[in-house]
Amino acid sequence: MPPEVAREPTVKDQELARLRDRVKELEARLSPPEPIKPSSDTPQFSSIVLFGADGNLATKKTFPTLFALWRKKLLPRDVVIVGYARAPMDTHQFRREVVYKAIYSSAHPQRERRRFLERVHYCCGQFDDATHVREKLAPLLSKLEAQQVLGDCASDDEPLRQHVQSRLVFASSDSDEDAPIVIHAKRKRVRVYYMAVPPFLYASICRALCTGGLRTTNGRDRFVLEKPFGRDATSCASLCRELAALLREDEVYRIDHYLGKELVMNVLVLRFGNAIFEAVWSRRYVERVDICCLEEVDCRGRGGYFDAYGIIRDVTQNHLAQLLALVAMEQPLSLKAEDVRREKVRALRACRALDPGDCVRGQYDGYAEDSSITNKETTTETFAACKLFVDTPRWAGVPFVLTAGKALKEKKVEVRILFRDAPCRVPELEGACRNELVVRVQPDERVYWRVANKVPGLEELTVEPRRMNLMYSNTEVRSMPDAYERLVLEVLRGDCTTFVGEAELDASWAVFSPALAALEGVVPGRYAYGSPGPCVDRLYDVTERAHGVLAGGSGR
Ligand code: BG6
Repeated sequence: MPPEVAREPTVKDQELARLRDRVKELEARLSPPEPIKPSSDTPQFSSIVLFGADGNLATKKTFPTLFALWRKKLLPRDVVIVGYARAPMDTHQFRREVVYKAIYSSAHPQRERRRFLERVHYCCGQFDDATHVREKLAPLLSKLEAQQVLGDCASDDEPLRQHVQSRLVFASSDSDEDAPIVIHAKRKRVRVYYMAVPPFLYASICRALCTGGLRTTNGRDRFVLEKPFGRDATSCASLCRELAALLREDEVYRIDHYLGKELVMNVLVLRFGNAIFEAVWSRRYVERVDICCLEEVDCRGRGGYFDAYGIIRDVTQNHLAQLLALVAMEQPLSLKAEDVRREKVRALRACRALDPGDCVRGQYDGYAEDSSITNKETTTETFAACKLFVDTPRWAGVPFVLTAGKALKEKKVEVRILFRDAPCRVPELEGACRNELVVRVQPDERVYWRVANKVPGLEELTVEPRRMNLMYSNTEVRSMPDAYERLVLEVLRGDCTTFVGEAELDASWAVFSPALAALEGVVPGRYAYGSPGPCVDRLYDVTERAHGVLAGGSGR
């Protein structure tokens, strides 16, 4: 055989080599450190598919949150956002008629909105249609992601851009890994599938994503679900089972936005970062714990959802039960997700099932008159106060009263720890107020102690209740992150600490389900719109009332 003679590279070979190098460079840029670990860095290369993109949750919360993160430069600059819904629309219409309206504020420059809107696209389809996912959503996503990468090299090298464009592989499989010039844009990204839809659609959407080829096993898919997770223990368990057959628990991010609130997060820091709290944090010193979410807003326009759930399922079983768990739990091994969750689950499991007799329900006048409520004889409660007990050595016998209500006199979310009387007080201080530790979640975020204090002066000794305040500066209050912003960011970072685990759901439904079943169809008491709500005195014993612990005639 004649020896091979090395041939001179042609212009075409040189061009090809140049292209190969450039593509390698682009592929390298596409590889974030893997897997994305919980960290303070926002990951690069993220795509967010928002199901129910034209609905109430998406327009009221999700899009404004994404835009706020974008403005703060906390969303990756190359983020791809695809809205998915059933309404026939094109991307331009979607941007103009849905997203623009959702994010509009005269306080922000038009330029920022325009740039954000450029990241947003639309895909119209049925939620359970795997074929549509395979044929429309998957290719659209891959194309947009790849275009994002190409955008980087577009300005200076148009021929290269065209060449790479023609060689892009939009496939969802990894089989073409060794192809000579291919950009595997899809495989390198974090993909977030955000379900802003009613819970009964979760499983069908996830199934369509799996069979439609969008589910990968690379650990970069995140599925975000919003409460309510079921209507009771049984429906929640079956929802969890359906999802567990499709997804791994560490891919599921169940949002309870209260866990993302600054002051809620502070409960763990206050408790476990300060020796003084641990010392008094038990039945020995604490007489009662009041946890409330009182709202001025009513249910107008939300009747379709609200009337099927009621305030206990809407707020008490999740937001308030989470607060109870944070107050009642033992110290976790660390503040990592699994350690905190373990202790929260133990506290919730130790919580006795709610006795229907320990629950005061109410409905505000005029609730059923709203056009969004079809059943005019509805017995759904818009107010509930529930007395619970956590049967642990620390809390045995201490009532935890969880109160939530709509159309009330004031808006207030707080945790109030009421302490026992100081034993054997000197006669002069007998009438002094009891101590309370209050974590005011909103509005007017702060933490304060209620203490007995001497009125300054030369006159006879007078004692009055005063507040020792831990207040935030105006700047701190102004820059407090919105709970949703924190949670979306944590999804992108892959940190599930502030999300709800399946076992927590199971434990908290076990507390409320029996009473909810017993109270189904029972007519709630009525209360005036804008009032403090129905009287809840019967949940408190007479000695507490005699001590003047309870504020106002309603017993709160
Ligand atoms: C939601 C409930 O989860 O929380 C609403 O569905 C309620 O009914 C809301 O109004 C309260 O949240 P926030 O953040 O306004 O206290």
